Amino acid sequence: MGNHIGLRLALMSSSLLIAFTAGTATAEPETFDVVAGRSTFRTYCTSCHGPEAKGDGPLAEYLDPKPANLRQIAQREGGDFPAETMHQVVDGRKKVRGHGSKDMPVWGDAFLKTDSTPDEASAQKRISQLVTFLASIQEE
Ligand code: HEC
Repeated sequence: MGNHIGLRLALMSSSLLIAFTAGTATAEPETFDVVAGRSTFRTYCTSCHGPEAKGDGPLAEYLDPKPANLRQIAQREGGDFPAETMHQVVDGRKKVRGHGSKDMPVWGDAFLKTDSTPDEASAQKRISQLVTFLASIQEE
């Protein structure tokens, strides 16, 4: 008898749990790469691109061309976020298309110099995480 009540309670609380999770499942959880990319972005990119990545950082007024609004990359490219191209743009060591302003730092080099244990693989990983973060903040 006592066992039955215990079982009932267990079933009840698990269906409550399911109802609760279903109700909050609208916002997708962020991946580790998005979180890591945002953190790197806040350290290295906001001075020019701004805290919201809209191109309005404190240094923006001194730059020409202006730092890009990084929330509208997909819009500018006609709807698709060009991850591979953006990776090359951020890396900066290999020039791509019209990209590459003298004011956009060459992060491929910079990350090799700033990391405590500099190696190409971790520099590339940082850039990938930045690009994953940027992909996650594109406006419709
Ligand atoms: C010293 C200022 C400065 C900093 C710091 C900076 N950028 Fe930029 N960035 C620019 C400028 C200026 C442009 C525009 C270049 C152009 O239009 O030719 C740009 C362009 C870009 C673009 C190309 C956007 C597009 O649509 O083509 C990306 C991506 C980008 N930056 C990412 C980053 C990331 C990620 C960081 C941090 C790791 C960063 N930037 C830090 C100045 C900066």
